[in-house]
Amino acid sequence: MAKNILIVTGSPRVGGNSDILAEAFAKGAMEAGHSVKTFAAGRADIKPCKVCDACKAAGKCIFEDDFRKVEPMLAEANVIVLASPIYWYDISAQLKLVIDKFYSTKAQRNIDESVLILCGAVEDTARFDGAVQVYKRICEGSVQWTDRGVILAGGCSSKGDALNHPAWQQAYELGKNI
Ligand SMILES: Cc1cc2nc3c(=O)[nH]c(=O)nc-3n(C[C@H](O)[C@H](O)[C@H](O)COP(=O)(O)O)c2cc1C
Repeated sequence: MAKNILIVTGSPRVGGNSDILAEAFAKGAMEAGHSVKTFAAGRADIKPCKVCDACKAAGKCIFEDDFRKVEPMLAEANVIVLASPIYWYDISAQLKLVIDKFYSTKAQRNIDESVLILCGAVEDTARFDGAVQVYKRICEGSVQWTDRGVILAGGCSSKGDALNHPAWQQAYELGKNI
């Protein structure tokens, strides 16, 4: 069955390693007949949640920012793919801002499967465990996503390093088999 997949990328670097791995996943998924949309959170202007709780009455965040653009994409999606650079042992702050805004909306309610793709400069991907742990906790928390896979690309520092990394093929295959 064709799925609606939303890829949320977390890097400000256009064409960087997380973009490359996200595109590999998208290529596989589209070849398998799925619909894929991408939102570049790393290049978006999203303000942090202020816990004003105005969303409790409004049903959405009352502040105008680029979360407005991803909200309808979330509402259509059954699968979410989070593709981020590692920043200080975690996903990027830009990607985290999108996740924090889930507090304000139920737009993500139809998502039931998820994938995490991470790239970082260090070779030893055991050092990505902080980000992986956060993702796993999110999956088993209030969103209730079934984790369909975690792809870790270590040793990716310069733009383009992910092109020749085994993670490229892993992302492509996971997209094909999602
Ligand atoms: C602010 C910042 C913090 C970073 N922290 C880490 C880190 O903790 N661990 C790591 O392996 N790489 C770290 N890196 C390197 C990036 O994760 C790496 O260059 C990655 O490939 C960038 O992905 P992109 O090309 O999608 O932007 C950091 C880079 C930046 C800019």
